[in-house]
Amino acid sequence: MDRQTVFSGLQPTGNVHLGNYLGALRNWVKLQDSYDCVYCVVDLHAITVDYDPKQFESDRLEAAKVLMATGIDPDRSLFYFQSQVPQHSELSWILGAMTPTGVLGRMTQYKDKVAKGEAANLGLFAYPVLMAADILLYHANLVPIGDDQRQHLELTRDLAERFNNRFGEVFPIPDALIPETTSRVMSLTDPTSKMSKTDPNDKSRVLILDSPDVVRKKIRSAVTDSDPDVRFDPAGKPGISNLLEIMSACTERSIDDLVEEYGSRGYGKFKDAVADAVIAALAPIRNAYENLDDEEVARIMRRGALDARTKAEGFQQIVREATGLAAL
Ligand code: AMP
Ligand code: TRP
Repeated sequence: MDRQTVFSGLQPTGNVHLGNYLGALRNWVKLQDSYDCVYCVVDLHAITVDYDPKQFESDRLEAAKVLMATGIDPDRSLFYFQSQVPQHSELSWILGAMTPTGVLGRMTQYKDKVAKGEAANLGLFAYPVLMAADILLYHANLVPIGDDQRQHLELTRDLAERFNNRFGEVFPIPDALIPETTSRVMSLTDPTSKMSKTDPNDKSRVLILDSPDVVRKKIRSAVTDSDPDVRFDPAGKPGISNLLEIMSACTERSIDDLVEEYGSRGYGKFKDAVADAVIAALAPIRNAYENLDDEEVARIMRRGALDARTKAEGFQQIVREATGLAAL
């Protein structure tokens, strides 16, 4: 049997954080051992909100470098910038022609962004359709993502089914791969909302490239509660529970084990241990990042786009044929 295909994307908006890493990127890296992986820096998604073109250029390269530093291997995986492969946009248009607007209006990410003041433009509205196109373009079977993308993946599955029912079996129905813990790493300053790239408060997130000192400061100042026990209770103790999940993911020790060790030793000691664990987990990534050369990475991305285009063209013909569009 053919190997199955994995697809996932990361927006190049800078600020790649621990939530991205523990929720998604760690899985991206592992999956390379057993699947054909396609990983994409989704720059077309990022322009659906206000942005600065100059900053965008450097954020895009930084995102590519961070992914390579975490272990995305361009010799094993297809790795490129989304906008350099025009087939994503074409498929998005085709899928858009079969997407009810009512469904898009109910997407929580869209509603949240508009509630936070983003302009309600067509790109932001159609964002999940472009994501479906990314995934379906390569006939992906598995999509490693964090919890916040669950609803978008449901839409992707629904569109694949609609397409297949109307035009014949073209797309596999992709499954989400969402980690059991750390699928929703919470903000350090407000542990009832998720850690996010766009929170105006820098202390709300640990960046993958933060220095050890900065990591320690941010974790020490993480919002907790006044009851001194270290216990896993996401509803009653969201701050401590978030730190327990983070530490467990970084050390590969169970939460029970950590509670046993730190339960009654006080928050100070516990936070220091969490900081140590995060610093140790991020150290090899920071190190690898420092050793990457910008020119070399840019060259790798150009080569990735060429390879991806070749592959995408084949899939594009299948869709054109199924839908009755002219062959290229
Ligand atoms: P984005 O930053 O929106 O491009 O997200 C890249 C990946 O990180 C997606 O798979 C998200 O679901 C995941 N992700 C983003 N924020 C978090 C978080 N706070 N916890 C866990 N996963 C996250
Ligand atoms: N929408 C995703 C996010 O904000 C990024 C993304 C775009 C993606 N296309 C994708 C993720 C395809 C998985 C598969 O995080």
